[in-house]
Amino acid sequence: MQTAEIQRRWLTFFGDRGHTVVPSASLVTDDPTLLFTVAGMVPFIPYFTGVVPAPFPRATSVQKCIRTLDIEEVGKTTRHGTFFQMNGNFSFGDYFKEGAISYAWELLTSSESDGGLGFAERDLWVTVYEDDDEAIELWKKVAGLPESRIQRLGKADNYWHTGQPGPGGPCSEIYFDRGPAYGAEGGPAADDNRYLEIWNLVFMQYLLTEVRSKTDFDIAGELPKKNIDTGMGMERVAFLKQGVDNMYEIDQVRPVLDMAAQLSGRRYGADHDDDVRMRVIADHVRSGLMLMTDGVSPSNEGRGYILRRLLRRVVRAMRLLGVDAPSFSELFEASRVAMRDAYPEVEAEYERTSRLALGEEDAFLRTLASGTTILDVAVEDTKQAGGSSLSGDTAFLLHDTFGFPIDLTLEIAEEAGLSVDRSAFDTLMSDQRARAKADAKAKKGKLADLSVYSEFRAQGETVFTGYDYLQTDSRVLGLIVDGIPVQSASAGQIVEVILAESALYAESGGQAADKGSIIGNGFDLEVLDVQRPVKGLISHTVQVRSGEVGAGDAATSVVDREYRHSAAQAHSATHLVHAALRQTLGQEAHQSGSFNKAGYMRLDFSWNQALSHETRSEIEEIANNAVRDNLEVVTRILPLDEARKAGAMALFGEKYGDTVRMVDIGGPWSRELCAGTHVRTSAEVGLVNLVSESSVGSANRRVEALVGLDAFRDLAAERAIVSQLTANLKTPREQLPERISDLVSQLKAAEKKIAAFEASRLAERVPAIAASAARVGPVLAVLEDVGVLASADELRSLVTSVRERLAAEPAVVALAARAGGKPAVIVATTAGARDAGVRAGALAKTAAGVLGGGGGGKDDLAQGGGTDENAIPAALDSIRGALAG
Ligand code: ALA
Repeated sequence: MQTAEIQRRWLTFFGDRGHTVVPSASLVTDDPTLLFTVAGMVPFIPYFTGVVPAPFPRATSVQKCIRTLDIEEVGKTTRHGTFFQMNGNFSFGDYFKEGAISYAWELLTSSESDGGLGFAERDLWVTVYEDDDEAIELWKKVAGLPESRIQRLGKADNYWHTGQPGPGGPCSEIYFDRGPAYGAEGGPAADDNRYLEIWNLVFMQYLLTEVRSKTDFDIAGELPKKNIDTGMGMERVAFLKQGVDNMYEIDQVRPVLDMAAQLSGRRYGADHDDDVRMRVIADHVRSGLMLMTDGVSPSNEGRGYILRRLLRRVVRAMRLLGVDAPSFSELFEASRVAMRDAYPEVEAEYERTSRLALGEEDAFLRTLASGTTILDVAVEDTKQAGGSSLSGDTAFLLHDTFGFPIDLTLEIAEEAGLSVDRSAFDTLMSDQRARAKADAKAKKGKLADLSVYSEFRAQGETVFTGYDYLQTDSRVLGLIVDGIPVQSASAGQIVEVILAESALYAESGGQAADKGSIIGNGFDLEVLDVQRPVKGLISHTVQVRSGEVGAGDAATSVVDREYRHSAAQAHSATHLVHAALRQTLGQEAHQSGSFNKAGYMRLDFSWNQALSHETRSEIEEIANNAVRDNLEVVTRILPLDEARKAGAMALFGEKYGDTVRMVDIGGPWSRELCAGTHVRTSAEVGLVNLVSESSVGSANRRVEALVGLDAFRDLAAERAIVSQLTANLKTPREQLPERISDLVSQLKAAEKKIAAFEASRLAERVPAIAASAARVGPVLAVLEDVGVLASADELRSLVTSVRERLAAEPAVVALAARAGGKPAVIVATTAGARDAGVRAGALAKTAAGVLGGGGGGKDDLAQGGGTDENAIPAALDSIRGALAG
């Protein structure tokens, strides 16, 4: 049974039983506590907690997921995949334990010809949470399962949560017995390799707060309703149904594994280590492809870092298979073909994703080359110092800065006959992890407070009136200080205000929050920030300017008219620039982020080279042409599917079932899903002035522009500079560049002349200085204060010229000067002097000590400096003394 067929059966089964079929959400969650969608339930978390009322009583999905916690296990077991698909059925206060158990049993055990998955009843076992007698009774009653195939397990196995504060509950897991060839008898409690978990039924009924570990958490109380969250591992069922040994050999993954075998010329199944490498490659390539498809780009933090790590591990595994040449092009192509039927977006985004993948591979291969150089030097130094072990610092630097996996460092060190100070490395790593954890905890603390908003959210959405009005009369629903509801706030205090309706725009979709105020009978509040802490709820952070505001008061939100107009100009300009960018560079210039506020916009997009001057001008001109054309801006609210059909550029994060807002400028000329505020016609944007273009991470560029009056002011400032230059240089504007470059060349020529003149003046002094040579101890010595020179370089050239004249003698030339404002002494020796045992380095050091500084160098030439210029004669005397002695 192909994976796609399992998916089809799943959705049909639950769809026929009253579940709304919800397409997979993005791997990138809008839940800020989770980096990725880690389970089928993630998109539904607000419905479980009751923060947002569930739009349907039951739902089903096949959800793309990423988990990287067990990344080291990938390829070694049958079932650890960083990317996998979770088939889920969900009840939001509708059916509970009995319903969940009976659906699962029916789908698993119905024959294939009846649309089921056709598992034999005798092969299935279940586990339940230790004290869940109710579940045991239901398994016996509904499924007729004998007590001997039901086992009780503790929290580590049979309690489920996301690892973050949120919903959770005891669970019951269904296992498939693969038979005696795979391990010992005794059920899942005895062996979880032979007994493979295929489906987890979570009885989601508690709200967890502090989640310290899988088994250590606080239960804050019951959820408003009893819910069901289940997850069947589609890859696991697929490998059982396809008669292969593990998830890396199923139809959606195997082609990549085969490609790795083909490229390396090694056979899968011949060598255990090679097999693991091929499975790692197959898994990680697919995960990388799916992550990039969902908009993640490789970077050094957060999601991007995890992606980067996966891709680097592929490069590493290919090297271990003996392939040093680039291979991503073939590997990703194989994964694309295997995944595109299930996920059409893989095909649609492939040009961009493959470019990202190839860029990352190329960059890492280069990093490997330079990191290897550093490692070679460190190995050499260690050996020279007589050490046998490479320091933990070096291994950590290579890991942290160059992304060198530790096993690579170990391997290269070993080839050179060295070990690595593994325990020092591990300490550095665990320090780093502790820092990261502390950061994450600080973040989590903030987010745990979200619960205060749910009460307000439960009263309904905050109505945003600001598309049509700049002022709205409403009511204060509540006030919050430091996460706690309060009754009132008075002058000077900073508080969050929740209103029933608001005209103030909350920061979202790249648009900054509105400025404005909230006023009422006897109070005046200055708006500092406007956010949406949970979907559908607007919170205004304000400072009370005067009076006292209380919950229940009538209040009017007032938007700063001028700010909003400039913000709308900037947001519409962002769309114009985006459209212009795609017209100029092609459709694969894909927006990866944006930000706009009054007078300013920036747009990040995937592109792997700098834009030329011409391209920048072209983009700017297209955007300004659209301004001149006075295109109408039309917004429509419509279902997501319809908007997609109309060709709207969907940014990530929208969910099925959402109605979306589509903003057209000039009909389809620019069509985007966007909740921002816009001008009515493009002419109102006024002017777009592209001021910069730069790199933001690998294969990502940023353009920045000033908009409207700010654009004009910037150009006016430039004009003022230009007119100052024309006046000062007495040159017409169009001749300025030429005039300035003439001036620069003239200046350079003059500097050259001066330098030549100085050199010849210096050269003239050489014979006289050389003539002052007098015998001191075993050598001829020149010990002179030559006065003031422009630089130490000049002093050095003088010293070496004098030495040249005395080359045939055993001679020492030590000249002192105030060079570049500081006392310096430079000492040079001839071969004869060195034969007599005279060392320039030692002499320079002695003299520098007298000057109040330090110095040193080689035997033939050395330099010293200090701070006390009055000590120059004494410094030269010290050299004389040293030579005489
Ligand atoms: N959310 C549950 C899991 O991931 C079903 O196992």
